[in-house]
Amino acid sequence: MAQEIIVVHGNGTLAGEVQVSGAKNSALKLMAASILAGGECIIRNVPRISDIEVMAEVLEQLGARVERNNHEGRDEHTLTIDTSSVNSFETPYELVSKMRASISVLGPLIGRFGSALVAMPGGCQIGARKIDMHLKGLESLGVEFGIDHGYLKATTPHGLKAAHVVLDFPSVGATENMLMAAVVAEGVTTIENAAREPEIVDLANMLVEMGARIEDAGSSIIRVTGVPIGALHPCDHATVGDRIEAGTFLAGGALTGGPLTVRGIDPSYLRMAIMKLREMGCTVREGDDFVTVTREGDLRPVEIQTLPHPGFPTDLQAQFMLLAACAKGTSVITENVFENRFMFAAELARMGADIVIEDHHALVRGGCQLQGAPVSSTDLRAGAALVLAGIVAEGETRVHKISHIDRGYEDYVGKLRSLGAEASRELPYRNHRATIRVETEC
Ligand code: UD1
Repeated sequence: MAQEIIVVHGNGTLAGEVQVSGAKNSALKLMAASILAGGECIIRNVPRISDIEVMAEVLEQLGARVERNNHEGRDEHTLTIDTSSVNSFETPYELVSKMRASISVLGPLIGRFGSALVAMPGGCQIGARKIDMHLKGLESLGVEFGIDHGYLKATTPHGLKAAHVVLDFPSVGATENMLMAAVVAEGVTTIENAAREPEIVDLANMLVEMGARIEDAGSSIIRVTGVPIGALHPCDHATVGDRIEAGTFLAGGALTGGPLTVRGIDPSYLRMAIMKLREMGCTVREGDDFVTVTREGDLRPVEIQTLPHPGFPTDLQAQFMLLAACAKGTSVITENVFENRFMFAAELARMGADIVIEDHHALVRGGCQLQGAPVSSTDLRAGAALVLAGIVAEGETRVHKISHIDRGYEDYVGKLRSLGAEASRELPYRNHRATIRVETEC
């Protein structure tokens, strides 16, 4: 069956309040961490998105039981994961190739069983996305790796031993895999140059609730005192709000003027994005768990460099490139985290944007009136930004390949409609057929 597309009618506005879902990038790792508990964990505030379904399949493949909303009083955003029956260490290529984050079962499988067999993740559209730091870090804890017909085979012939590890780059995935193995390594592990994303803190909090001993998660040096695997137990944990979803809606509010409020998010997770919105001429108000954006004058040009947290998130780069394209003046956006994350620029250019890419810099000459066009989501965040672009463009925009958006945004169209957008999910050929019929009638 043909994949649905999102059809957006332009010259629209976004205003009102929207509740953000739980963070995709947290929930996926919390699900993986449940392997270490060897019992029934409850994870709340889990978004209903396709990446979560893939991670559920990964866990089921390992022998776990994963259920949504199976007890009275638990809603559809609550997962119950029983990992007591996990009896396989193998994650097949079919699942890893669907979602690279499947690699995050590596650390917990090694932690619980001392072995793992995980298909090597392939490349990815937004860059090579190597896993060398995951492997180097785990090797220093005593893990031995071999390649077996496209699979990464991990063994721990002498058990897991603590180590002092310095990551070459604060990789989110490598820090997480290290953490999930180090919690049961004998001795005190130090992870230096660790990633500091709020999702790392969320994972560490859940591991601590399970009985792990972790200090200073959220700083660049994390200390982990290993405990025996038997000391870890199931827990009941709620996922933090999704700062990238929140940032996407805030960009939408900034684009059309708002006022737009995102709820369910700690504003401190969005420091740099909020700073850039202010630099671009927006008024931003922060509360305990909400952020409101309003804009009255023109959008101003900006300079943005993506960096690991607390720097500007690469996952908001496309959304802010769209803002820059609508600003009065020339902006410069530099992508430092992924080597190939400007595919969005070509799609936005199809809508009339003037963007020149030079290596990892984008020169965005703003001020154009975007025109509705058929466009394609090149990745998750680009897809979300193209829908926003359609809201301010002239005419109709048809966004294809929306399975990318479904990977990470729960009910994106529904939430945008609740804010006033004219958008809907449709099968791709409806208008095309209508055109042919009219021509025939003539
Ligand atoms: C996570 C997020 C993703 C976000 C990214 C950076 C999830 C599921 N995904 O991805 O949305 O954009 O953090 O904030 O949580 N690298 C290596 N070798 C390694 C590991 C990483 O070279 O072993 C490189 C990558 O190719 C990339 C950079 O380091 O260029 C950052 O990657 P990393 O922080 O690991 O991102 P992910 O965990 O893959």
